[in-house]
Amino acid sequence: MFLINGLIFTLGTLALALSPASVSSRIQLTEVPVLAVGLVIILTANAVLVRSSLDPLDELTTSMQRVDPPQRSDRLDDQGNGDLRDLITSFNSMLDRMEAERASSSAAILAAQESERQRIARELHDEIGQSLTVALLTLKRAIDRAPAGPQPELEYTQQTIRACLGEVRDIARRLRPDALDLGLAHALTALCNEYARATGVSVVTHVGHLPAQLDPQIELVCYRIAQESLTNVARHARPRKVWVEAHAASDELVMRIADDGGGIIREGAGIRGMRERALLVDATVTIASGADGTEVRLRIPLDGGPAA
Ligand SMILES: Nc1ncnc2c1ncn2[C@@H]1O[C@H](COP(=O)(O)OP(=O)(O)O)[C@@H](O)[C@H]1O
Ligand SMILES: [Mg+2]
Repeated sequence: MFLINGLIFTLGTLALALSPASVSSRIQLTEVPVLAVGLVIILTANAVLVRSSLDPLDELTTSMQRVDPPQRSDRLDDQGNGDLRDLITSFNSMLDRMEAERASSSAAILAAQESERQRIARELHDEIGQSLTVALLTLKRAIDRAPAGPQPELEYTQQTIRACLGEVRDIARRLRPDALDLGLAHALTALCNEYARATGVSVVTHVGHLPAQLDPQIELVCYRIAQESLTNVARHARPRKVWVEAHAASDELVMRIADDGGGIIREGAGIRGMRERALLVDATVTIASGADGTEVRLRIPLDGGPAA
């Protein structure tokens, strides 16, 4: 800024020194237009130069307004000079620190959430599941020995307990994605089959070739995002058809969950959770929604060359 103003003043002084224009000690009327034109030229040149040197500041303001956790923000080129470049560099490094902090705290929260889910799933399966199984066996013995009179009630109780046991196992399975033990492709297919069975909606599943040795964190992120997307479809979309696709190219894994129901998304805790999970593995979630349905697309960068 100082340089620009210095430049303008130097040019103005040179113009005064070299031009034939002169000003009397008491300004004459004929000299006023010359002074006015000179002033306008100096102000315009100053405004243009100052404006152009402050352009990066406008970009910085726009970029600050765009910062929208948990999405990753673009960094600014550290163009400009002197103080401005320092400001942009500091802003970029503040974004780096903010994103690193957010990534590590959401990783800790999600890890705690997963382990809590595991614990609840284990207790549901091992404690309640076991007790219901024992109750079923005892009831079966009672039914075998009971007279004909109370048989219908006993059989009804038996069916209720059996249904309850099924529900407990389903909940435990949803909480703890055991299916992932057999790989992501298997887990996604199982999830889609279960979804189709539970909702009656037809699901077109196309899981292409996925690397055999995927990072477990990536598998879990994909699985949980597919799970949340399908839950959203069931809760909000009323679709006729759902498509679930996943495939890996050499350097990225792409997963897509689409439906042909009614769309319009106002992001809530579920979608925010998806974005936070995606950040854990440097992935991006894009959601497109319109009158003909909704599409959730997850892109995860894979390192380590072509998919095995
Ligand atoms: N597949 C979808 N089809 C239509 N609307 C959807 C779909 N997914 C999400 N939505 C809309 O986006 C909102 C936010 O979703 P989400 O963040 O998961 O929160 P929640 O499911 O708890 O409402 C939902 O309330 C719903 O209105
Ligand atoms: Mg939801």
